[in-house]
Amino acid sequence: MIYTEKVMEHFANPQNVGELPDANGIGEVGNAKCGDIMKIYLKIEDGVIVDVRFKTFGCGAAIATSSVSTELIKGKRIEDALSLSNKTVVDALGGLPSAKLHCSVLAEQAVKAAVADYYKRQGIDPELFVGKCDDSEHHCCGEGENCG
Ligand code: FES
Repeated sequence: MIYTEKVMEHFANPQNVGELPDANGIGEVGNAKCGDIMKIYLKIEDGVIVDVRFKTFGCGAAIATSSVSTELIKGKRIEDALSLSNKTVVDALGGLPSAKLHCSVLAEQAVKAAVADYYKRQGIDPELFVGKCDDSEHHCCGEGENCG
């Protein structure tokens, strides 16, 4: 399996790893394909993601995709973070082997789950922004069993 230099760079030196004690949006998703887990912490102020961290129990590609995702959404507005697709993430890494594409979905879904959690904490129905959970493979709305 061949990884790009960019993937290796993020794997060897992942950005924004850890937890955010003052996060106001936390999302955790599991990958049905491999059973790996991803957790994203967001600190949102005035609609802007001012800080982000991630923790993953996942493979090297999951680490690289999460790392690059945090870089792509840091300092961005919530709407921009929600439009982050796994394709954007893969492109930013210069590509991923096809057997590893599912790993990039984990990062995208964890960001969405964290934003959903943020809206819930504000007393806002996250479905209005994040959409209904329509993916049987991922806990994209952060509701655990209900959306699996
Ligand atoms: Fe599970 Fe990559 S194999 S996230």
